[in-house]
Amino acid sequence: MLDVRHLRHTFGAGPDAHAALDDLSFSVAAGELACVVGPSGCGKSTVLRAIAGLLAPGSGDVLLHGSPVRGVPADLAFVFQDYSRSLFPWLTVARNVEFPLRWRCARAERRDRAQRELERVGLPDVGARYPWQLSGGMQQRVAIARALATEPALLLMDEPFASVDAQTRFELEDLLRRVQRERGTTVLLVTHDIDESVYLADRVLVLTPAPARLLADLPVGLPEQRDQIATRESPAFVALRAEVARLLRTRSPGARSPSGGRSPTA
Ligand SMILES: Nc1ncnc2c1ncn2[C@@H]1O[C@H](COP(=O)(O)OP(=O)(O)O)[C@@H](O)[C@H]1O
Ligand SMILES: [Mg+2]
Repeated sequence: MLDVRHLRHTFGAGPDAHAALDDLSFSVAAGELACVVGPSGCGKSTVLRAIAGLLAPGSGDVLLHGSPVRGVPADLAFVFQDYSRSLFPWLTVARNVEFPLRWRCARAERRDRAQRELERVGLPDVGARYPWQLSGGMQQRVAIARALATEPALLLMDEPFASVDAQTRFELEDLLRRVQRERGTTVLLVTHDIDESVYLADRVLVLTPAPARLLADLPVGLPEQRDQIATRESPAFVALRAEVARLLRTRSPGARSPSGGRSPTA
């Protein structure tokens, strides 16, 4: 579904040049939920922007359904960390969710679909309110509803739960896994939270410090049904989070994993 091949990108030029991506390659299969973890500033948001067609990489390719991405693909949605700046404050919640549908279907259908999406994220009664009248967690639910309204094949999420409290974060993680399973949406989610990456993902992609390369590609063999307390206590979870933490402590950019395999340092 998604193929990232040999992406390189440098911001600026000359002595101020900053290499953000260095030969970064990975792929994500249809229906998979993959998490990207890496140190702050390593290039995680940059790779999402390249996949979304918001940034033309210096070299390399992004293939979606086998075709190169040139500009923003139609069947892609993006959820950002900062919900307060991504929802439109002058539109009601229902109108926000309807917004991406305005070029796709008629008014009555848009209204029905928006209401269904809001129900799916546990907000059946807030359509007439404005985003700023809702809590941060509720606003992020609205952002997820809006992103899923168009039934995107690929959902990109950049630290979507980093600005909410711990309890809300757990609820949103479970919500995301549930709707992702129900819809079969392919999700690529960036987080700096190791536990979150292991809890959510089918696969964890670990990046090196800048410039980002793939350090390890770890399958998460945890059961489908996850529970915020029991799963996080399970030996498999604890072992995997320790492995990711060890990898993130690796400072030598030479420790490169064979593509698709476990890191040699693991
Ligand atoms: N538009 C830009 N111009 C110059 N440098 C940038 C730009 N965007 C990001 N960078 C730099 O590239 C590096 C990677 O940024 P980013 O992808 O946002 O990191 P992450 O999301 O992993 O924290 C950072 O050092 C950042 O300062
Ligand atoms: Mg970022």
